[in-house]
Amino acid sequence: MIIDENSFMGFSPASARNGEPILQRLTELLAGDETVLEVGSGTGQHAVHFAGNLSGLRWLPSDIEQQLPLLQANLDRHGGDNIASSRLLDLQQSDWHAGLDPVDLIYSANTLHIMGWAEVVTLFRHLDQVLTPQGQLIIYGPFRYSQNFTSESNAEFDQWLKARNPVSGIRDFEAVNALAMQAGLLLQDDIKMPANNQLLVWQKE
Ligand SMILES: C[S@@+](CC[C@H](N)C(=O)[O-])C[C@H]1O[C@@H](n2cnc3c(N)ncnc32)[C@H](O)[C@@H]1O
Repeated sequence: MIIDENSFMGFSPASARNGEPILQRLTELLAGDETVLEVGSGTGQHAVHFAGNLSGLRWLPSDIEQQLPLLQANLDRHGGDNIASSRLLDLQQSDWHAGLDPVDLIYSANTLHIMGWAEVVTLFRHLDQVLTPQGQLIIYGPFRYSQNFTSESNAEFDQWLKARNPVSGIRDFEAVNALAMQAGLLLQDDIKMPANNQLLVWQKE
């Protein structure tokens, strides 16, 4: 299907651009029959693109309350049989994991630099309960390494994010990886993606 500004409410050009490179990597990384909980699905473009191309996946999209009507409207229009209805998952709620059955993969794109650091910590705090044994966490987005941005444009993006909301900002890979290790996850891969983004892959030990 064609994912463009005419087909998706709130269409995200960035999500459309990075969808295909991420799909290529997911195709390599996944067995193809996983249950996937997506955190911060946004417009649902990734859910529709990935679940549409990897039909053995069962995709569970989620987002905060104010995003759900738009997300669900897009899923109603484009979602296939292997995409569940959108669910409320707000990392400002410390019990975000309550009532969730364990999943094989938690996937989240372009979210850690939007939400505050406290919410990032809350995400990792309950991963152990939400992931199946050998379950994976895959995070896509920009990161700093040794406190250095990977490009001048990412440094400018960080300034822009912080001016818009002081709790936002590009995260330090080392700090996020420390949270992952505390949660019993081991880094499997750190893949350089187009436009100075990374695809980080952890697995539950
Ligand atoms: C830049 S958008 C990315 C959307 C989509 N993943 C993509 O790549 O196009 C950031 C998303 O994070 C979600 N988000 C922000 N704060 C959140 C929180 N506390 N808990 C869960 N999701 C949150 C927003 O609602 C939004 O959908």
